[in-house]
Amino acid sequence: MANSIIELKNLVFRYASATEPCLDIASFRAVAGDRVFLYGPSGSGKSTLLGILGGVLAPQQGEVTILGQNLVSMTSAARDRFRADHIGFLFQQFNLIPYLSVFDNVLLPCRFSERRLQQALAGGATLHAEAERLLSHLDLGPALWDRPVTQLSVGQQQRVAAARALIGRPEIVIADEPTSALDADRQASFLQLLLRECGEANATLLFVSHDRRLAKDFKREIDLSTINSVSHEQEAA
Ligand SMILES: Nc1ncnc2c1ncn2[C@@H]1O[C@H](COP(=O)(O)OP(=O)(O)O)[C@@H](O)[C@H]1O
Ligand SMILES: [Mg+2]
Repeated sequence: MANSIIELKNLVFRYASATEPCLDIASFRAVAGDRVFLYGPSGSGKSTLLGILGGVLAPQQGEVTILGQNLVSMTSAARDRFRADHIGFLFQQFNLIPYLSVFDNVLLPCRFSERRLQQALAGGATLHAEAERLLSHLDLGPALWDRPVTQLSVGQQQRVAAARALIGRPEIVIADEPTSALDADRQASFLQLLLRECGEANATLLFVSHDRRLAKDFKREIDLSTINSVSHEQEAA
């Protein structure tokens, strides 16, 4: 049996301000190289689940085991370190640093994580060469590399965010509705680039969307409501 990369057991999470739990998940597992498409309507707890997997949110009950390590027993500082070392995050709103260049945005994870830096250098290239390789693979040419990210189109900014998530080969890439700001053509091509890059790095990809049309290229498709026993009223997307 393939090694578990992500393993959840009997997870219960409730926001401090809420009276009822938002998530109650008996079990969930992802293995090395998995490509999981997780969908559900807006408000169904997708981002909350990703926050738990990334160690940003701590559940009240249950086990969260990532790469064999129990996140629940870690201090929040240790979880932050673990996230920086092992997880590439890609957000709907990109979260790029506006005053930094394309290049410096991509290099950020290697400044926060020695492990990501060493892995970026493992192929024998320089850090800049590795950033250039990723940017080129994501169809961002040299003319853009030194520009502030604010001068790029939305589609270009999302590819910069993808390069940042991928640099230093994190074992897990978590993408929270990364295509929702893109038009339909851009969504499809961005998804192909992301899948290809995660495949080459053998990263486990957890891709979240409320748009099920994007699911067809994934090996696994999971409706959050089938694994979450808390039912949510459907909210407007
Ligand atoms: N910081 C928060 N405090 C309290 N409730 C929250 C917070 N963030 C999200 N929620 C609530 O938790 C539920 C799940 O939200 P979320 O995980 O963002 O859903 P999704 O990503 O599927 O749209 C929603 O009802 C939302 O209003
Ligand atoms: Mg969300």
